[in-house]
Amino acid sequence: MNETGRIGVLISGRGSNMEAIAVACKQGQVPAKIAAVVSNEPGAAGLARARRLGLETDVIPHRASATREEHDRKVAAVLDAKGCTLVCLAGYMRLLSSWFVRHYEGRVMNIHPALLPAFPGLHAQKQAVEHGVKVSGVSVHFVDEELDHGPIILQSAVPVAEDDTEDTLAARILVEEHRLYPEAIRLFFEGRLKIEGRRVHILAVPAR
Ligand code: GRF
Repeated sequence: MNETGRIGVLISGRGSNMEAIAVACKQGQVPAKIAAVVSNEPGAAGLARARRLGLETDVIPHRASATREEHDRKVAAVLDAKGCTLVCLAGYMRLLSSWFVRHYEGRVMNIHPALLPAFPGLHAQKQAVEHGVKVSGVSVHFVDEELDHGPIILQSAVPVAEDDTEDTLAARILVEEHRLYPEAIRLFFEGRLKIEGRRVHILAVPAR
């Protein structure tokens, strides 16, 4: 529907989901493009990855701001200047301020390597292995003010094998992350996601 959709991706580390989104956009699977990649960590490996992909990058170190909101306002200024209409967190290791969440209400997504509400927070794959679950997976959700909590857009299950370690499970989950995040973004830009309370309805035809 909207071929000029502009995505801002926030990263803190490796940036493999950012790359998967970029590739899906370039291949035409997502009717949008990444207009901004912002990292709060100057040393994030994902920055070099983004530059290799020809994407514009900005570093906004959070340590330079006195408060969370002050930092988030700087990030939003970059995203807004570049016309981003969707913000995708991709390994962004910062909680967002209430101001940021309200500024982009219903327009911030996150990906989490577990089937939420199971195993929120850090080291979700380790939590899953240690808990002994037989199935874990991936969740893409809209972001609200609580950690890994907002309305769930898509989920995909990944079986936990008998001999899985945190690393082997994480590697299999990552493959699924790279498939699921672009799919959720595509649905967003096709106008097919409707948030109603905690439910995200996936419409067969775009909402008017
Ligand atoms: C992914 O596992 C994602 O689900 C989680 O952080 C990791 C980021 O990996 N939120 P990458 O930076 O996208 O490679």
